[in-house]
Amino acid sequence: MKNHLIFIFFLLIYTAAMASAATLEQANASRMEARIQALSQYGANTQGGVSRVGFSAADIQGRDYIMGQMRELGLRVNIDQVGNIIGRRSGSNNNLGTIAFGSHIDSVPFGGNYDGDVGVVAALECIELLNANNIVTQHPLEVIVFSDEEGGLTGSMGMVGALSSKDLNRMSNSGKITKQGINDIGGDTNQLTKAIRQRGDFKAFLEVHIEQGAILDVENIDIGVVTGIVGMEWWNVTIKGKANHAGTTPMNLRQDAMRAAGRFIVAANELVRAMPGKQVLTIGQIAVEPGAVNVIPEKVTLSLEIRDLSKDKIFSLFEQIKQQTALIEKQTDTRISFESQFSGQPAITDKTIQGFIAASAKELGYSHKKMPSGAGHDAQDMARITPIGMIFVPSKNGISHSPLEYTSPGDMANGANVLFSTVLKIDKSD
Ligand code: GLV
Ligand code: MN
Ligand code: MN
Repeated sequence: MKNHLIFIFFLLIYTAAMASAATLEQANASRMEARIQALSQYGANTQGGVSRVGFSAADIQGRDYIMGQMRELGLRVNIDQVGNIIGRRSGSNNNLGTIAFGSHIDSVPFGGNYDGDVGVVAALECIELLNANNIVTQHPLEVIVFSDEEGGLTGSMGMVGALSSKDLNRMSNSGKITKQGINDIGGDTNQLTKAIRQRGDFKAFLEVHIEQGAILDVENIDIGVVTGIVGMEWWNVTIKGKANHAGTTPMNLRQDAMRAAGRFIVAANELVRAMPGKQVLTIGQIAVEPGAVNVIPEKVTLSLEIRDLSKDKIFSLFEQIKQQTALIEKQTDTRISFESQFSGQPAITDKTIQGFIAASAKELGYSHKKMPSGAGHDAQDMARITPIGMIFVPSKNGISHSPLEYTSPGDMANGANVLFSTVLKIDKSD
């Protein structure tokens, strides 16, 4: 009889333990996919992705949808002066630093449905899980949807006080000057300093994001533990020649800005390709004036972007490119000048948070791998004021910044589960 009672006692304890593990609800892949699908209506392009550039009407509609979802989840929602959406959930001790997580919902022109969106949907899913499991964290929490990430990390730069007047006057992808765009989405550029958060305000910032490369997909790994984020620099390159008649001006008397642009594009690419390392260079925009079939181009404007984990390497490459332009100017009788457009700092993620992410993946039975990020993220700005961590999920075939971008609902749910677990570990850590 006594043995019987002991057995029943242990059975009860075991059942209670199992019940609590079973009732600790995990991410719901269908709910996440439904939110991705809902978001993808705003700015849908005919190729199956979105063109929801920052500050556009589609961006504003998508933001409204997300704010509605945040409110339904019980978050207190505000838009800060730089246009970031912030949804706050109280902790049991609101004097502690905030644990923040989020991403962005603006896209590149002709983008896909997952870049940024997965991080926002995973952040909402994390709140779903806290609610469903009746968890009140010690630290207050914030879900942050940064404004105009693709236009130059505008929201996060503003949040860390790094937005310059040049940034504010930059032409955004929406065709609005950035300053105007910020005001159109509910920000207030007359009071930008109010959006600045200080070191100590946050305990940590976490971002779930699609990898945007093929490593996780090819190696069949569930979770990327990001070790660092590359820095990126953007310049406008202006090439000035002389417009003249396309039929009457002999080839040897031309000052053809397009000819110089062609040489410049090839020279800059070859220089960066010839160098060992993981640095990348992209010339993704070109504008020609006057832009007529029968007029020799007078002016060509190009974008120039260089990325690397080392800022010194970026600038050393830039100097070498500038040296080559002297020869191109001479050969083509043109003038080439550079104007800095944007500067994104490289960032290293926090080692302790990397450990929490890896441990969470392991506990959940997911394979994981440490890796750097070749794409820029708002987390790299947040690193200036708080420890950061990034959780990557696979991008099918490594495709991103394209309507063909795809991440499966199961992979998104894995990311949300790792986020949820990491938030709980950070909440309990000293
Ligand atoms: C942001 O998506 C970037 O890396 O360009
Ligand atoms: Mn992107
Ligand atoms: Mn992104």
